[in-house]
Order: sequence, then structure tokens, then C-alpha cells
Amino acid sequence: MHYSPAFSFTARPAPVSDMSNPTSATPYGTLPAASPLPARKPVSLPRLAELRERGEKITMLTAYDATFAAVADAAGVETILVGDSLGMVCQGLASTAGVTLETMAYHVESVARGLRRVQGTAWLLGDLPFGSYHESKEQAMRSAAQLVHAGAHMIKLEGGGWTADTVRFLVERGIPVCAHLGLTPQTVHALGGYRVQGRDDQAALTLKRHALELQDAGATMLVLEMVPAVLAAEITQQLPRCHTIGIGAGKGTAGQVLVMHDMLGINLGKNPKFVRNFMDGASSVREAMAAYVAAVKDGSFPDDTLHAW
Ligand code: KIV
Repeated sequence: MHYSPAFSFTARPAPVSDMSNPTSATPYGTLPAASPLPARKPVSLPRLAELRERGEKITMLTAYDATFAAVADAAGVETILVGDSLGMVCQGLASTAGVTLETMAYHVESVARGLRRVQGTAWLLGDLPFGSYHESKEQAMRSAAQLVHAGAHMIKLEGGGWTADTVRFLVERGIPVCAHLGLTPQTVHALGGYRVQGRDDQAALTLKRHALELQDAGATMLVLEMVPAVLAAEITQQLPRCHTIGIGAGKGTAGQVLVMHDMLGINLGKNPKFVRNFMDGASSVREAMAAYVAAVKDGSFPDDTLHAW
């Protein structure tokens, strides 16, 4: 299927720094003052809703620093998540549970700076880490404000049920919220490991109820992680105002997300089943990211026979 870009692309004025001119090349991967790619209008909630309406999949990738974020933006990724997965891929922690709000703010700020520097247009999400929103709605507001001050457009938090009131509190105060259901890595110990969620009837019903409550509370995005494809597709149909973003949830969601290190094959161990290594056949990170965008858009990733349950 032919991939037509999400938004109208118009010619961008010549970049201030021309990367093809060796005399102006900059060391240490320094970002040029303008992206060498054509311009895209800033990604916003109305633009994401437009995409959804016309049946075009939303793309999301994680990034944790200025350069990778700028490259993802240049590759056409629409939404960039500074995920607390950075605890595992950047900090070497055993799980995401040990990540602090200060660390998240540091990485959100780096990513936001990178995007600004190249005049990037991606929508930026910052993950609220474990312990930063669990005590009270007020604590969640303070933590969310810290990530917004660092440059996030939207915050993400994990869990259903008790989180609905918190989501409503943040949304009423002007903070767009992405929820996260299914496998919620911050509570991996309580879940008994990285397992598929919502497999039996009761668990599936609870997941659906939580998803509806989160939409009612005002969440405009919902990550569904390691959820059976049929269930994720059903939830997606039931949430017209909240865009589902799947990871290990099949192709029936409104969009897809992967952890950048996984999709670039930067992994000494075995990748989870839902990952595809987009460096295969790519000659650069930007090419791999662009291949990911194209595959999500044309529906070839994920392949439910390979990447889903
Ligand atoms: O922290 C993260 O990177 C995430 C994604 C796996 C969705 O939550």
C-alpha cells in the first residue's frame, strides 16, 4: 500500500547549517539549526484526531536524548515518548520502577531541546515515573507540571481504576494525558512478570472498563501493552476520543509505539515477540526509523501472525 504522509509537507527554507557542506560540518553529532527534512506542521491533538478520523495510523517511538529525538522527528515519527524505559536502556536498572522524576525531567528537557534546535514538530510525551503520582492528585499535578516545564506536551501514567480521578484532575487543569493499560512495567512485580494481560474473560472486562473510564476522565491517548489483538481492536472501537497506541497489541489500534533500542536492534538478549528490528536493510538510524513509520502507516507492522497474541 502506498504511504501518503500524515500532514501536508511544504518546502522549508534552506537550513541555516548545511550538513552537506563539509566546511560547516559540526562535531559530536551536533544538531543543525534546522532539520534538513521538509517541514511538517506541528503535531497537536487536533492533528492526531484528524489522522485517526481518516484511518491513518499514528506513529510513536521512544527517545531519551536530543540527537535521537531530532532524528526520529526528521524520519517522520509523529509522537515521541520519553519513556521511563530509559531506566532500563540508559541507566541499566532491572526495571522501570527505580526511575525518579528528576531523571525523567532531565531527559524530557534534553529531548525538547533537541527538537527545538532542529525546529522539530513531533508531539512530546513525558512519562510520570513510579511513585510520582500515586499519593494524591495534587502530587500528580506537581509531578506533571515538572515534566511540562521541561518541555512535555502530554504526560503518561500507568494503571486503571484509581488513576481515572487523577487523569480528570490533570486534564481539567490543562494537561493532556496518555494512559497506559495492559502490561504496566512499573508494577511488573505485582503482575508476576512481563506477561500478556487481559487473556481471560474477567481480565478482559476489567481492561475494557478501565479504558472507558479513562476516556471519560479525559485521557486522549492510551498505550495498550501486551494485550491480545482482538481485545485491543475492540477497545479501540469503543474509544473514539482516546487514541489507542499499541505495543504488542496487534494492528487494530489507532497507532503503534516501540522502544527505540528494540527497533534498532540494540539488544544483546532476545527481543520480545512484538518487536521488529528495523535496522535490517537500513543503512542509517534515520532510514530505520523512516522504515518503521512507513510500515506502521501501510499496515505491514505489526504483523499479527508474528508480533501479537
Ligand atoms: O516507558 C516506555 O518506554 C513505555 C513504552 C513501552 C510504551 O511506556
